[in-house]
Amino acid sequence: MTGILVLHGPNLNLLGQREPEIYGQQMLSQIDAQLAALAAERGVELRILQSNHEGVLIDRIHEAVSWADGILINPGAYTHTSVALRDAIAGVGLPAVEVHLSNVHARESFRHTSLIAPVCVGQISGFGWRSYTLGLIALLDHLSSGVAQI
Ligand code: DQA
Repeated sequence: MTGILVLHGPNLNLLGQREPEIYGQQMLSQIDAQLAALAAERGVELRILQSNHEGVLIDRIHEAVSWADGILINPGAYTHTSVALRDAIAGVGLPAVEVHLSNVHARESFRHTSLIAPVCVGQISGFGWRSYTLGLIALLDHLSSGVAQI
């Protein structure tokens, strides 16, 4: 069975109450439920973790080598700062898709740079909670047929 590690980075536990005009009304548990429903339809195993700690996210990425086929990640603010997270993804060599609820390219300039995207298959940004389901579909397509690769 295909296994996917889903990682939510810092402050995403606050979804629903956190700047809803930017991130939407959905709580993280609702997003996870959407992902779980999609995974069940596709016969895919998901393991989901939210952490506010860079090292915890990195440890999970390392562990994923033993069971996962790919990584779906919203790195939150670590997107723009974390060389360590980028190195972890590059280091394990698992295909990863980066997702963002908001369109980071339409926001403050410090959000325009992702240190993570260059080591990912691609980035989906700006579709609210649907960025996650679109990201999972893109990752599964990539794994099954490589269509996400140009
Ligand atoms: C975010 C965008 C980041 O810039 C921000 O720091 C977040 C959320 C998003 O999903 O839109 O925490 O990753």
